[in-house]
Amino acid sequence: MQIAHFPRVKMAHLPTPLEPLDRLSDHLGGPRIWVKRDDCTGLATGGNKTRKLEFLVADALEQQADTLITAGGLQSNHVRQTAAAAAKLGLACDLVLQRNVDWPEASYQVAGNILLDRLMGATLHIKEKGSDREAEMVDLAARLKSEGRTAYIIPVGGSNATGALGYANCALELVNQANDLGVAFDTLIHASGSAGTQAGLVVGLQAINAGIEVVGVNDSNSATELAIKVRAVAVDLADKLGVTVDLDAIECLDGYVGAGYGIPTDGMVEALRLCASLEGLILDPVYSGKAMAGLIDQIRLGRFTKGQTVVFVHTGGSAALSAYASAFE
Ligand SMILES: Cc1ncc(COP(=O)(O)O)c(C=O)c1O
Repeated sequence: MQIAHFPRVKMAHLPTPLEPLDRLSDHLGGPRIWVKRDDCTGLATGGNKTRKLEFLVADALEQQADTLITAGGLQSNHVRQTAAAAAKLGLACDLVLQRNVDWPEASYQVAGNILLDRLMGATLHIKEKGSDREAEMVDLAARLKSEGRTAYIIPVGGSNATGALGYANCALELVNQANDLGVAFDTLIHASGSAGTQAGLVVGLQAINAGIEVVGVNDSNSATELAIKVRAVAVDLADKLGVTVDLDAIECLDGYVGAGYGIPTDGMVEALRLCASLEGLILDPVYSGKAMAGLIDQIRLGRFTKGQTVVFVHTGGSAALSAYASAFE
């Protein structure tokens, strides 16, 4: 089914640019690297969640919701973009924020994404590590209902089949741009966490038989757990679109999380420094930085070689950088 059949509220600046990273490619001496600038989707500093929110918020409006509820960590980019979508559409926004990262910098508690959430007028419900975010959201929706409000719960990361439509659409956009530029990609690589981005890209690229392999660099628990989530969302999305998906093609790459989700690694610091100093391209410490560290390492290990062309999807996140200044001292 065509993606245009699904309700959508257009909020993103699309198409996002597709640009060569020539100085980075030369420095690494491996494949030609391009970047798909999904950090430039425009909603309150942009990022990958905006594409998903276009479809999720449309669904919320169809259900007459007056409030958006979602959850994430204190520095969640998904939460920040949800707060922005709510502000733009005049909806209330209640956010369940969990202290799920042991990063000692004081600014982590008040700067970056959480500062933007507050600026955009969202109501924050801060919970301790280990709390059940899904249950908190359900309780919150029930409480709001008793006050006469209609809340729509957006899952963590916006990752269900509705949100993943945004990334199936991104797959089509990317291939169209590549055709116009006369570039053929062998591999697409990106940060993967709650699975919607990867599921959407895999289903979208397979649906048009693009022949581009997709590598999701795991940014939290384990690649095995991530792959289970990606497969589940991919099956639901393929069903929604009426296409088939080859689940064996789903590749989640481990080895770049380091001590844990949201904790800096040496590879991430190197990746941010290289992209900033060679390309003026700002990555983030939690997602795109670790994914780029993965790409750099895989090039050094010989997986991607000269003659190949790789596209890195920059999923955003640099709003969190100010909470991580000490990692770059
Ligand atoms: C900047 C950034 N990149 C990548 C991801 C991972 O995307 P997904 O949750 O769709 O796997 C996230 C998720 O929050 C993110 O904020």
